[in-house]
Amino acid sequence: MNKNVSDSSPLKDLDALDEERKQRYETQADEPRKFRDYETTEKAGVREFYRINHQYQTLEFVLNKKNEYLPPSHETMGVWEAMETLNTLVDDSDPDTSLTQIDHLLQTAEAIRADGHPDWFVLTGLIHDLGKLLCLKGEPQWAVVGDTFPVGCRYSPAIVYHEFFAANPDSLNPQYQTECGIYKQHCGLDKVHFSWGHDEYLYQVVKNYLPEEALAIIRYHSCYPIHKEHAYAHLMNEKDEKVFAWVRAFQPYDLYSKSEEAPNTEALTDYYQNLIARYFPTQIAW
Ligand SMILES: [Fe+2]
Ligand SMILES: [Fe+2]
Repeated sequence: MNKNVSDSSPLKDLDALDEERKQRYETQADEPRKFRDYETTEKAGVREFYRINHQYQTLEFVLNKKNEYLPPSHETMGVWEAMETLNTLVDDSDPDTSLTQIDHLLQTAEAIRADGHPDWFVLTGLIHDLGKLLCLKGEPQWAVVGDTFPVGCRYSPAIVYHEFFAANPDSLNPQYQTECGIYKQHCGLDKVHFSWGHDEYLYQVVKNYLPEEALAIIRYHSCYPIHKEHAYAHLMNEKDEKVFAWVRAFQPYDLYSKSEEAPNTEALTDYYQNLIARYFPTQIAW
């Protein structure tokens, strides 16, 4: 469905990752189980996605991407405009899904709002995936989406498709394969480099505008090894432990808010544009 990613991409459908995650974590869902019984080919796509992701997400790769994209300064764009731009990622010709990227963002935000959560949390739901704009900047999917994990230290067995790290050159570097690797125990996740993707990129784009709980959600929402599997506690500090309560509170809204029905974007536009304006200037750097 993703027309911006070349045919050589190991994963054509971004939704396949969400489906795979739902299946992986379905035991914790207290919502009705409506998981798509997805095709063998899609499973193969997810597997191939992680094979490439785990092979190429080295510490050096991450540092190079940070060098390339940070601080964000390639262009300026408003947050709503970024949502509309991200929407071009979806190919409407795909019969399997009628939900766009904007639909997912609005559904997530609306589900958070319906539960009476604070404004900043609703706004976080609205924008949490805008880092996927990296796809439109030419990045392959394996460097944008998927579960994230710390690099420069031993890979936790809690990381999905852990076996594929055998092909990552970092796994042959003894310095990177101790429990803490290049980091100090309880140094804080702020000092830890994660595999490159939409989480870290968006965090860097919005870090001056949102409270720290919101920033933690944005920065770590794809790090399932930590927020679901409780791995890497030895790298976390007290502040991390505190804000991860919010990362965990967010996760069901991201995975389980998808409903068949597309939200009424037109009816919600004013409310969300006002919400954005309360936290962000009209233009920010991407
Ligand atoms: Fe995401
Ligand atoms: Fe999401």
